[in-house]
Amino acid sequence: MIWREEYKIGVELVDEQHQELFKRLGDFIQTVRSDQENSEKKKEVERTLNFMGEYVVTHFDAEEALQKRFNYPDFEEHHQIHEDFKAEVAEFQEKYSADEYDDDFLLEFSGRLLTWLINHVASTDQDIGEHINSVKEKEEELK
Ligand SMILES: [Fe+2]
Repeated sequence: MIWREEYKIGVELVDEQHQELFKRLGDFIQTVRSDQENSEKKKEVERTLNFMGEYVVTHFDAEEALQKRFNYPDFEEHHQIHEDFKAEVAEFQEKYSADEYDDDFLLEFSGRLLTWLINHVASTDQDIGEHINSVKEKEEELK
C-alpha cells in the first residue's frame, strides 16, 4: 500500500477519498506489472481508468465544495490545478483506447500519476486541512 498516515489532511471525507485514490492507483500499477495476458490486463486497466476518471471528478468536486464552504483563500489556484489534472487523465484515456496495449506506456503514466498524487496530497492539500481546521476551531470558540 502506497498510502501513508502523514498524507492525511485532517478532514475525514477528503482523507477517505484520497486513500481510495491511492488504493486504486496501487491496484492499477500492480495489474500492469503482473504477468497476466495482455488482453486480461487491458480489460482490468480499462476498468480502473474508467473508475478513476469518474472518481477524480467526484473527489475534486467534494474537495472544492469544502474549500468554498470554508472560504479557502487559494480556491481559484487549486481549482485550476484540479482542472489540469482532469485534462491529463482524459487525454490519457483517449490515447489509451486508441493505441495497442503497452506496459511501458502504462507504467510511465501511472508513475506520473502517482508522483502527482503524492505531491498534491502531501503538500498542496495540506494547506486546505490547516485552513478548514483553524476555521472550525474559531467557529467552536464562538459558540
Ligand atoms: Fe486537491
